[in-house]
Amino acid sequence: MTTPPRNRGNSSGGGTHDGQILIVGGYGHVGRAVAETLTSSFPGSVVVAGRDAHKAQACSRDFRGKVAWRTLDLTRSASWPAALDGVGTVVVCAEQPDARFAAACLGRGCNYVDVSASHVLLSQIEALDPLARRSGATGVLSVGLAPGLTNLLVKHAKKSLDRLDKVDITVMLGLGEAHGAAAVAWTLKNLVGEFETVVNGRTRSVRSLSDPRRVTLAGETRGRTAYRFNFSDQHTVRRTLGVREAATRLCFDSRLSTWLLAASARTGVLNLARLPLAEQALRATSARLRWGTDTFVVQVDAEGELRGEACSLTCAVSGHREGEATGRITALVVRHLLKASVTPSVSHIEHFLDLASLSRVCKNGVTALCSFPGSLVNFYSVDRSFQLLLAA
Ligand SMILES: NC(=O)c1ccc[n+]([C@@H]2O[C@H](COP(=O)([O-])OP(=O)(O)OC[C@H]3O[C@@H](n4cnc5c(N)ncnc54)[C@H](OP(=O)(O)O)[C@@H]3O)[C@@H](O)[C@H]2O)c1
Repeated sequence: MTTPPRNRGNSSGGGTHDGQILIVGGYGHVGRAVAETLTSSFPGSVVVAGRDAHKAQACSRDFRGKVAWRTLDLTRSASWPAALDGVGTVVVCAEQPDARFAAACLGRGCNYVDVSASHVLLSQIEALDPLARRSGATGVLSVGLAPGLTNLLVKHAKKSLDRLDKVDITVMLGLGEAHGAAAVAWTLKNLVGEFETVVNGRTRSVRSLSDPRRVTLAGETRGRTAYRFNFSDQHTVRRTLGVREAATRLCFDSRLSTWLLAASARTGVLNLARLPLAEQALRATSARLRWGTDTFVVQVDAEGELRGEACSLTCAVSGHREGEATGRITALVVRHLLKASVTPSVSHIEHFLDLASLSRVCKNGVTALCSFPGSLVNFYSVDRSFQLLLAA
């Protein structure tokens, strides 16, 4: 295990940060993109970690030693102190069962960034706000695409309207992309089951992959059907942005695959996925099968009021390679966290950034569209990698 020197003071970019940046899950799909992006801003300060020393070491070699490595298991607290030694900022790009690791980080004054889309976990970490304030650390949650960019799109819609009543968030994922095992496992886990939603001010249960909605996504002319899915953004923005109704739906670039999955959920076939053997088989199959593109779209269709009249607004971001894009956005959040003066707290991305501030630091590859019905007011476009360029 390498022990990188403790880093204090100015980074190459001129901002200040204190200690190493530890990326848990740093050799996974998302984590690797975070590491790659951060090494240019904070050379000599990035450390990747996971449970497998060989993989961590191989990743460090891939980066020609510019990235150090450590081992850490989020479920084994005995492995945390050594891994956190000299670390000032922790970025978690892996699933974890509870908020104990976040509490350990924030409690010792480490900044904490998490890409999780699990509402229950994020609520537990959010409750650590007093701890963060006491120890002078900052926690940023809902980082990535969904949650992440979706939260920022809702915030953008709220700013654009005089009153925002309702948002329908759609996440379209490309089945042609090699998604990471942890991301696939999270999606499979959430294919079945119910979660709470609020409709007309009343809380009710909604089944995963039910409640279809037709949507025409940015850049497309043919509609698609998307189905309810338990991404955390819909729960978060109701509280943080005061949206009365928020619902997130999922679809895939292949309309047939989306339909088949929803039909399997409706007929109960997907309940089989809960059986351990079936789950294993599904994970293995999903990790290997590719039958689509690597395109993603996140879109917010908002309803509210503007200048005394009912108004709807659509804003969307599209791009390629969702895992990598998640990592790039996460790195931008870390950079902002370390270069701006930030008040100690635990908050979600929308309290911390807005789309425009992200745009100044992003580049390449994400296209963002924002339109009022009938007239495209803004069209933001860049080429294929992951910088988000938004006009003023
Ligand atoms: N917010 C968003 O928009 C968004 C988008 C995509 C993905 N995600 C989330 O990002 C996370 C990573 O996804 P991914 O596609 O990068 O998955 P991945 O390629 O499977 O990477 C996961 C990484 O976490 C490590 N890991 C797993 N369990 C661990 C543990 N107990 N302790 C320490 N490290 C552990 C893995 O290494 P070892 O197994 O060797 O330990 C691996 O390096 C997932 O939680 C996914 O849900 C969020």
